[in-house]
Amino acid sequence: MDDKEYWENYYKKNRNPVDASTFARFSLGFLEKDKKLIEFGCGNGRDSVYFATEGLNVLAIDQVEDELNYLNERYSGLENLLFKSADFTNLDDSEKFDYVYSRFTLHSIPEEREKKVFEWIKNQLNDDGLFLLEVRSINDPMFNRGEKISDHENITTHYRRYLDIGETIDKIRNIGLEIVYQLEDNDLSVYGDDNPVLIRIVARK
Ligand SMILES: C[S@@+](CC[C@H](N)C(=O)[O-])C[C@H]1O[C@@H](n2cnc3c(N)ncnc32)[C@H](O)[C@@H]1O
Repeated sequence: MDDKEYWENYYKKNRNPVDASTFARFSLGFLEKDKKLIEFGCGNGRDSVYFATEGLNVLAIDQVEDELNYLNERYSGLENLLFKSADFTNLDDSEKFDYVYSRFTLHSIPEEREKKVFEWIKNQLNDDGLFLLEVRSINDPMFNRGEKISDHENITTHYRRYLDIGETIDKIRNIGLEIVYQLEDNDLSVYGDDNPVLIRIVARK
């Protein structure tokens, strides 16, 4: 899967969830307790743990099995939180969700696989459900670092594909969702010397 070895090594050194992201805190304003949320690419669980603590039923998906086993054990007391190893570009259709949450994950997959993800969202999101997305923009300075491999993709320590807000909105509208919030800006999630230009979108089915 996607830079699996890179992320396995990363989470060996960063096992424990840090504070919830600014996007998770922003997203909470759109969410209702007791509803079902799936997170794509939960990493060390920072945002999924936050949502579960706030009373949502959370299924957190990632590819780094060791980390997920660790998190399932650590959070065994939270009955409304499950970490599961899977490829979020190849999920089955056994369950539907009220919310699909994706932070810093769509830019880790190529466009052909993004199509599968959008198709899955179209089918598996409940009516009135929300898709909450935060992702690096094509205007992110990180795109000028490392090696460019196309007009949207580069490799630094790992692969990234940078999104165009207009194109992304069109794709989301094409699966029948209505955009209820959109923003492209920096200063949203500063980490060390990385002040990314990010896209935030909230869309309703
Ligand atoms: C940049 S990290 C973001 C982690 C977390 N969402 C956060 O905001 O802190 C990207 C995560 O997506 C996961 N990932 C990438 N491609 C994946 C795939 N196809 N299926 C499941 N997880 C994937 C990686 O293992 C990694 O944990």
